Amino acid sequence: MRSILLALLAVAGVAAAIEPGQPINFSHKIHAGDNKIQCLFCHSGARRSTVSGIPSVQLCMGCHRMAAVNKPEIARVRAYFEKKQPIPWTRVVKEPDYVFFNHSPHISRGVRCQECHGPVETMTQTRLDHTLSMNVCVACHRQRGVSVDCYTCHR
Ligand code: HEC
Ligand code: HEC
Ligand code: HEC
Ligand code: HEC
Ligand code: HEC
Repeated sequence: MRSILLALLAVAGVAAAIEPGQPINFSHKIHAGDNKIQCLFCHSGARRSTVSGIPSVQLCMGCHRMAAVNKPEIARVRAYFEKKQPIPWTRVVKEPDYVFFNHSPHISRGVRCQECHGPVETMTQTRLDHTLSMNVCVACHRQRGVSVDCYTCHR
């Protein structure tokens, strides 16, 4: 019953309700909110590449050798690190394959992460805040005088 309901919600485009389960209970609120760690500290790819990237477990351990070491959830992070295994995070934001997207021109023109991803720094579980439909992309491109040629986003 629950899966049928979720499927119906997905068809209806109620994407905001979907919080995928994650292997580690990672909270953006604790990191980017309470502790004010910059988005780009962990997602440094956004500045110069198409993808933002998810930080490696090595980066996590850079802090968690010292921070919250005795917490069970951090013991689980350390176990991935010791086994030299990446944490198998579930993707949250994903456009169809026929869409071309590139973070770097947006970041270098000062478009804030939150304009597209919502208030991530308040989220205890990362969720898709709103779907980035073609209308949303095109509306902002028009407003800011950026190309709306089909080829810009479909190549
Ligand atoms: C103009 C809109 C926009 C802005 C601004 C933006 N993103 Fe994204 N982001 C997207 C879209 C669209 C995707 C999905 C791309 C895909 O599936 O090809 C995405 C995917 C991601 C992903 C997962 C895939 C990846 O690229 O690694 C992360 C992480 C991410 N964004 C973080 C950020 C951060 C951090 C910032 C700010 C520094 C940011 N984004 C700014 C639109 C945006
Ligand atoms: C720049 C430092 C920094 C980095 C990098 C970092 N964290 Fe944290 N993390 C913190 C701080 C500070 C806290 C809050 C600790 C506290 O309240 O005692 C925290 C808390 C947590 C908690 C909650 C622990 C608990 O149960 O109270 C988890 C889980 C966690 N981090 C996972 C991660 C993961 C996974 C990564 C890598 C993707 C990561 N952290 C990267 C600084 C960091
Ligand atoms: C301490 C490191 C850290 C910081 C700081 C951080 N993130 Fe993340 N981010 C992660 C990790 C780990 C994941 C994968 C787990 C998840 O989705 O919750 C992630 C996932 C995401 C995703 C979903 C990517 C996907 O799977 O599609 C977006 C969007 C995102 N972050 C945006 C942001 C924004 C915006 C900020 C600043 C407000 C930010 N992040 C700050 C570590 C961080
Ligand atoms: C909030 C405003 C905003 C949103 C939303 C937005 N963009 Fe953009 N986009 C920009 C700006 C600003 C630039 C930078 C143009 C420049 O560098 O001159 C840009 C540039 C681009 C470029 C590079 C264009 C080029 O000619 O190099 C691509 C590709 C792109 N956007 C795709 C998308 C897609 C796909 C989406 C929706 C998923 C999207 N954008 C949503 C503002 C936005
Ligand atoms: C600024 C980025 C952007 C531009 C410009 C753009 N698109 Fe799209 N388009 C998208 C995104 C993102 C999606 C996927 C999300 C969605 O379906 O709304 C998409 C989806 C589509 C789809 C599939 C829609 C569906 O209902 O299945 C078609 C067809 C399409 N675009 C055609 C075009 C044509 C034709 C043009 C030029 C007139 C164009 N696009 C220009 C971003 C863009």
